[in-house]
Amino acid sequence: MPPERFYVTTPIYYVSGTPHVGSVYTTVMADVFARFHRMLGIPTFFLTGTDEHGEKAQLAAEARGISPAALCDEYSAVFRSLFARYGVSNDDFIRTTEPRHERTVARVLGRMHAQGDLYRASYEGFYCTRCETFFTDQAVRDAGDACPEQPVLHGKIQRLSETNWFFRTSKYAPELARRIEAGEMEIVPARRRQEVLGLLRDVQDLCVSRHRSRVSWGIPLPFDPEYVCYVWIDALFNYRTATGYLDDDAARRADDAAWWAHATHLIGKDILKHHTVLWGTFLLAMGEPLPRREFIHGWLLDERGLKVSKTQLAGAPAARTPGAEELLAVVGRDAARYALVTAMRGAEDAPFSWNLLRERLDAELANGFGNSVNRVVRMIHQSCGGRFPGLDVNSDVNADVNADVNVRAKVDAGARAAAVREAALAVPAAVRRLPDILDVHEVLGAVRAGVQEISLFLDEEKPWKAAKDPANLPRVGATLATALEALRLLSLGLHAVCPEKMAEFRAVLGLGAEPCFEPESRWGLLAAGAPLGQPPGLFPRFDDAKFAAAVPDAAPGAG
Ligand code: MSP
Repeated sequence: MPPERFYVTTPIYYVSGTPHVGSVYTTVMADVFARFHRMLGIPTFFLTGTDEHGEKAQLAAEARGISPAALCDEYSAVFRSLFARYGVSNDDFIRTTEPRHERTVARVLGRMHAQGDLYRASYEGFYCTRCETFFTDQAVRDAGDACPEQPVLHGKIQRLSETNWFFRTSKYAPELARRIEAGEMEIVPARRRQEVLGLLRDVQDLCVSRHRSRVSWGIPLPFDPEYVCYVWIDALFNYRTATGYLDDDAARRADDAAWWAHATHLIGKDILKHHTVLWGTFLLAMGEPLPRREFIHGWLLDERGLKVSKTQLAGAPAARTPGAEELLAVVGRDAARYALVTAMRGAEDAPFSWNLLRERLDAELANGFGNSVNRVVRMIHQSCGGRFPGLDVNSDVNADVNADVNVRAKVDAGARAAAVREAALAVPAAVRRLPDILDVHEVLGAVRAGVQEISLFLDEEKPWKAAKDPANLPRVGATLATALEALRLLSLGLHAVCPEKMAEFRAVLGLGAEPCFEPESRWGLLAAGAPLGQPPGLFPRFDDAKFAAAVPDAAPGAG
């Protein structure tokens, strides 16, 4: 049974710098999941946005000599525009500085305080400004006096002494562990579950305030205006603000509860603890259910094996990681999306460089799916008058001319044609399984296997050669029809990743831009005699000239 709804979120992005391919990665993955669910007819709500409060944004604004509000407006617009150009189909874009969100957070804090889950205590310890997190002495010592999360990138960190407000994480952690063990919040991939349970065995109460003298850019604690709220408690509740949590309007609140029961958070592994230990205990304190699922991915790595970040754009051009804008400029929207989605099989860390993505795009899109479509459509124009020939030799559009040869040709294209059909039908079958397991690689693997099967079939049947003898035309027609019908089914698996290109292909077939999964997931949809458009040239090979123009430090011909 498909789920009734799908609510998918990305982390909200810090506004202290421009987006890089790592930021676009999570958002494009969420978009792909959203599009698959919509294609299956499952009501979907897709949320992304920007995380605008906190010391990081305040310091970045100071460094530029502008107000934090101006900085947030500027970068939030940069993220929004980039995501739109990557074809991201989010239903809402939340900014944590919006009044709707500040109201929700104030209400949450008020309730936590009223029920005794927040208390005042003094604190002394290490604090990393870039993570906006306190760390234990032991953790910092183990990391060589550096930030335990990012020792290389964030470096040495300072010791602070402050009176602060704390949340009773330790009160709720055992219950959270019990619920995760009972499977209430699914963790994908499953191997991360043990990691989360390990984190829950070693929790300390969380410092949820920052004194105004140090951080002023935040939501004030409603019960103690000397302090602003710690950015993570503020940030995590974005997932509920957008759907209407604690709204004055009862209909909005009901809507929120309905979406929340089907929430999937996509996150990078660096924010696993925040989305499990912190988020889970906050929700339990508010008497709320846990999200249905957390999908955790690794990092895109640069050529040195380090996490790609906004500060790392150096190295030999061909080996280095593309910037988010460059990637779009060189390969175009849909190929850029495909390169990102296929970078990280099994949600593990993966290198991401011009060289690697060039190889994959040329093999899988240009020479693979794109070339198959062009060849088959071109041959139908050459040999079958540009009309879909029909899957059966007897439904050949030239049947009246070839009546006497049809009987002979009906020996059929045999086992290979059956294998093509089976490989093609494996694609919608994988799409149907996606809501359960979120395995986009299973779908794309089925697409690649289908392309290969079609290629073997064409090599065996050689329609380009057979078509020279008119007596073979019925069989040539059936061969090309089988190949094209299979490509149509394969395109259902690519649609969520490359929506524009698949819409172009569908236009050649006379189909509307958006597929209607039932009945399109069945074999035999294209009608014999239907006119076809011209070969669409979907995915050109990697273009050295475009690459050299868009990547100024590129050596001639590098790529
Ligand atoms: N603002 C917090 C999230 C709050 S969610 C309530 C944050 N922002 S971030 O901008 O630093 O990171 C956002 C997401 O981008 C994270 O999931 C992070 O893992 C992801 N990525 C950042 N660099 C990445 C790579 N190099 N590779 C893949 N994803 C990475 O954390």
